[in-house]
Amino acid sequence: MTQAQGTPRFQRIMLKLSGEVLMGEGESGINAIAINRLAAEVAEVVRSGVQVGMVIGAGNICRGSWLAASGMDRVTADHMGMLATVVNALAMQDALEHQGIYTRVMSAIQVNEICESYIRRRAIRHLEKGRVVICAAGTGNPFFTTDSAASLRAIEVGADIVLKATKVDGVYSSDPVRNADAVRYTHLTYDEVLTRKLEVMDATAIVLCRDHGIPLRIFNVNKPGAMMRAVTEDDEGTLVTGDATA
Ligand code: GTP
Repeated sequence: MTQAQGTPRFQRIMLKLSGEVLMGEGESGINAIAINRLAAEVAEVVRSGVQVGMVIGAGNICRGSWLAASGMDRVTADHMGMLATVVNALAMQDALEHQGIYTRVMSAIQVNEICESYIRRRAIRHLEKGRVVICAAGTGNPFFTTDSAASLRAIEVGADIVLKATKVDGVYSSDPVRNADAVRYTHLTYDEVLTRKLEVMDATAIVLCRDHGIPLRIFNVNKPGAMMRAVTEDDEGTLVTGDATA
């Protein structure tokens, strides 16, 4: 049976948004136009019947590894980064609710006055009810990135794919901004990403996807409609799987 155009290919997805995409053209913080546009795109995916889990980074506010590089204790820096993801998660919750979408923020660290704690079975129940589950505070552990959190949560809730939102159209042979000859890969294997050191996600995140057979698609979140196409089409951005012939 061929798939009708525009029909979602997945029942449940885990969307990874970097904190930077929330700042729009700015240099830090949350830009209202940027977050509302993203929320509208997520809302379109939800309305198509796809269950959406989401992990948001914190690079628009603070990033543990950068603070550590400037001399701060790494664990303290990562704790600050985790709290910053909670800030972003609440902003995304608000933006999605303005789109009429039901959401739950679930945090890996306890901030119960502000949001629920992440409990896997509850997260799955929320997803089944069509609520967007916004996973905050990464994995709750220092030294782990929010990319790894996205892979981990995807495995835990049984997502069909991890969608990694970036600012470029997928994975390229070299930096497309600096090199006009850079070629976009339509498909890669997890091992190609690891051995060629293609900076798709950190190695822990890739290995988690590889070992649990969860496909990963990298797409340009700044391209209008790309998020929906990543759910309905198979030629948006770059797909990473374990099968060399996929
Ligand atoms: P169902 O059991 O499927 O009905 O889910 P539910 O989330 O609607 O039920 P619940 O009664 O647990 O939650 C009602 C509201 O309270 C929701 O908006 C939750 O996000 C919120 N809530 C639940 N637990 C916590 C918590 O620990 N802290 C905070 N701040 N809010 C919570």
